[in-house]
Amino acid sequence: MMLLLLSLVLLSLTDDGHALQVWGHRENGSCLCEVNPDLWVFPAAKYDAALQTVLTCEGSLDKLQEQVNLSLQRLPQVKALIHNVSSQLEPFQYLHYQGLYSDLSLRLLGQELSQLETDVSAIHSQLNNAETQKLSKEVSNLRGKVRRMTMTDTVNMKSVKEKLRNLKNTAESCKSIPNDFRGQGSYCLKGLLSNVSSPVMTKISPYGKSYISGSWGKQAQRDSEEYTTSYWVQPLVNSHIWGNTLRTYKDYDDFMASANHKDFTFAPSHTHANSIEGPSGVLYGEAFYYNCYRSPDVCRYDLKTSHVKRVKLPGTEVGFNNKFPYCYYECRANSDIDIGVDEKGLWAIYATVGNHGNLVASRLEWDSESETLNVTQTWETRLFKKAASNAFMVCGVLYATRYVDLYREEVFYAFDTATGKEDNSLALPLEKVAKGMASLSYNPTNRQLYMYNDGYLLAYDAQF
Ligand SMILES: *[C@@H]1O[C@H](CO)[C@@H](O)[C@H](O)[C@H]1NC(C)=O
Ligand SMILES: *[C@@H]1O[C@H](CO)[C@@H](O)[C@H](O)[C@H]1NC(C)=O
Ligand SMILES: *[C@@H]1O[C@H](CO)[C@@H](O)[C@H](O)[C@H]1NC(C)=O
Ligand SMILES: *[C@@H]1O[C@H](CO)[C@@H](O)[C@H](O)[C@H]1NC(C)=O
Ligand SMILES: *[C@@H]1O[C@H](CO)[C@@H](O)[C@H](O)[C@H]1NC(C)=O
Repeated sequence: MMLLLLSLVLLSLTDDGHALQVWGHRENGSCLCEVNPDLWVFPAAKYDAALQTVLTCEGSLDKLQEQVNLSLQRLPQVKALIHNVSSQLEPFQYLHYQGLYSDLSLRLLGQELSQLETDVSAIHSQLNNAETQKLSKEVSNLRGKVRRMTMTDTVNMKSVKEKLRNLKNTAESCKSIPNDFRGQGSYCLKGLLSNVSSPVMTKISPYGKSYISGSWGKQAQRDSEEYTTSYWVQPLVNSHIWGNTLRTYKDYDDFMASANHKDFTFAPSHTHANSIEGPSGVLYGEAFYYNCYRSPDVCRYDLKTSHVKRVKLPGTEVGFNNKFPYCYYECRANSDIDIGVDEKGLWAIYATVGNHGNLVASRLEWDSESETLNVTQTWETRLFKKAASNAFMVCGVLYATRYVDLYREEVFYAFDTATGKEDNSLALPLEKVAKGMASLSYNPTNRQLYMYNDGYLLAYDAQF
């Protein structure tokens, strides 16, 4: 008979607490094995150990208590640390919620893009040239990118926004710019301004030096029926921010002699909705254009009829009422919305929250048939408005200045609306006689720049 080895498992209280395995064999139908009886003796050592544990338990509790005490002491420190770290993270949280990757901004981006698609297809069907074809293609590329973004969130939102800004500018440049505007001055083809002369005219404001803010100039429309040679001054007599009168002179001689002026009152009071806010005005044709009181609107006061018409500037949260004034070195109160004129016509220079406080230039047109002031095109730049001391338009190029010292400003930035290109490497000096510059604007009829330099009125020749 074959012996079958069986494995017998015995449970035993061994030191390591594991089951003990013993070998046995089969005989006469039963399983036999040898067992060491020592295995069943009382585990005295184990008992001793347990007893010891019970005895030292009290000590352990003390240790535990000590640790708890320590933790309690450290808790305020840990709390402070968490608070400290959280507060340091806050700005990033803000960015996270406000900025680059939120669904909301993605949705807004989508809306802007849809608007752009509509605009571009309208321009394309109108013009249908290589430029508009390229534009259409780029817009649809961008649409693809944004679609991918909504699914993966991996494309850099910032670069897409920048691309969108560029395309929007290009689309604006494609829109109906009068073909003959460059013909009006071949000098416009020469490119950017090359220099600015020393002041060719210096005069104290006819209102006196105490009115440090306002605007002044010469009739800026070449073929205006009346007021062709007029000079004008607009002082901000209320808190250097508001005013309601425009003083005009028939010609240069009267202006220099402060003789035979004619005053126009375009609002019944300084705080009327039609009064002027900030050093913003310009005389163009038979009308005075300016930023209307506490609003994101441009007003047009008709010198013949005394009617005031207005238009709201485009953009998400247009800055007005001292939100985005010119601020380089010193802020010029409420210089948010600046009206300018160049060879292309009338412009509003301002900033919007939508463009992150950077300069925006909108082209304005007076439609004499429908008697409405219209905004026809808008370009967005990358220059923070508060980082400039003033801005003006020449030949469709937006120029910005900064403060150098008491007697000098400098043109340092240019943005070409025809190409969307910008240049911030300019250094064209502008001499002045007092520290503050309230307004600076260009006149395309004689290519002069006019500066309201605290109470002084200065003129310069622009050189190409
Ligand atoms: C096995 O059984 C036989 C007969 O019943 C007996 O003589 C023998 O002693 C037994 N062997 C043992 C180990 O018990
Ligand atoms: C823990 O703190 C309590 C009260 O603060 C104190 O009575 C106790 O002695 C402390 N225990 C140890 C182990 O430090
Ligand atoms: C908070 O963090 C700042 C900067 O790291 C450090 O200077 C400061 O001591 C910290 N405060 C606390 C309570 O840890
Ligand atoms: C630019 O004009 C200033 C006068 O404002 C003159 O001093 C300077 O020499 C001119 N620079 C050039 C390069 O012509
Ligand atoms: C100006 O806007 C008015 C009203 O929206 C419109 O009727 C008119 O055609 C526009 N004019 C131009 C030149 O776009």
